[in-house]
Amino acid sequence: MPFVTSTEMFKKANEGGYAIGAFNVNNMEIIQGITEAAKEENAPLILQVSAGARKYANHTYLMKLIEAAIIETALPICVHLDHGDTFELCKSCIDGGFTSVMIDGSHYSFEENIKLTKQVVDYAHDKGVVVEGELGRLAGIEDEVNVSNKDSAFTDPDQVEEFVKRTGVDSLAIAIGTSHGAFKFKGEPNLRFDILEEVQKRIPGYPIVLHGASSVIPEFVDMINTHGGNIPGAKGVPEDMLRKAASMSVCKINIDSDLRLAMTATIRKYLAENPSHFDPRQYLSPARAAIKQLVKNKIVNVLGCSGKA
Ligand code: G3H
Ligand code: 13P
Ligand code: ZN
Repeated sequence: MPFVTSTEMFKKANEGGYAIGAFNVNNMEIIQGITEAAKEENAPLILQVSAGARKYANHTYLMKLIEAAIIETALPICVHLDHGDTFELCKSCIDGGFTSVMIDGSHYSFEENIKLTKQVVDYAHDKGVVVEGELGRLAGIEDEVNVSNKDSAFTDPDQVEEFVKRTGVDSLAIAIGTSHGAFKFKGEPNLRFDILEEVQKRIPGYPIVLHGASSVIPEFVDMINTHGGNIPGAKGVPEDMLRKAASMSVCKINIDSDLRLAMTATIRKYLAENPSHFDPRQYLSPARAAIKQLVKNKIVNVLGCSGKA
């Protein structure tokens, strides 16, 4: 089973009213936890790599680990660049075997975003690689870019049709109130489903992507805080809202912070309960198991893609 693009996955997800999980990967244990869960659920999967992950773990190491996961699971896996910010970065990932890249031109003007996205699309399509673009700006932190709430902006549905047509992009990330990181909503969580509905009307059947979709599971925040951590309690995106989005035209749901919280919580708890242990395998094993359980829960209860590989 080779690396695949997300084209078929999104088509089936749109028709079936479910979404594919796009999980960020940074090391072997994270890749193993996610892919073991997907294998047991027979779920389609997108593994995404940020510029920071590439810097941390090295492109070749990550590709070889993902290749190993494909051999072990026999699953179709799409390997995707998360938040590519330049043509050169996208090109390097395309040349290095990724089957999908995101060009995030959301910080630029509409015209500049179109120009940059089209440049990436032209290069990628020539090599059989698909491209995700972004319109609208999410709040939160990705790599070194920190977008404050006041600089965030909902997607304007009036722009989506023109953006998709002029760029030829294969999927579109939109901003409807989610944000990156573990601190999403000050008050009650609220997503602008009216914007999603409008977008859906303008580009029917077109795959939409939701970034910043971690639920910030309280169990893990509490586990971190009761074992020496200090994370302010904050509300993530409720699971029922994600299910609703998945039943609409959202085909790809991005999850990173929940993985980070699950891993850190489990390691903190393990080391607090076993202060004399220092073999990394001892604390990384339960961390990997926690990631696997978390991803299984997402596949079954949030994404609805169990059995759809
Ligand atoms: O949206 C950003 C992802 O959570 C990746 O985060 O850039 O720190 O690897 P990172
Ligand atoms: P979270 O921070 O909500 O997990 O979002 C991840 C993401 O959007 C990666 O692109
Ligand atoms: Zn994102």
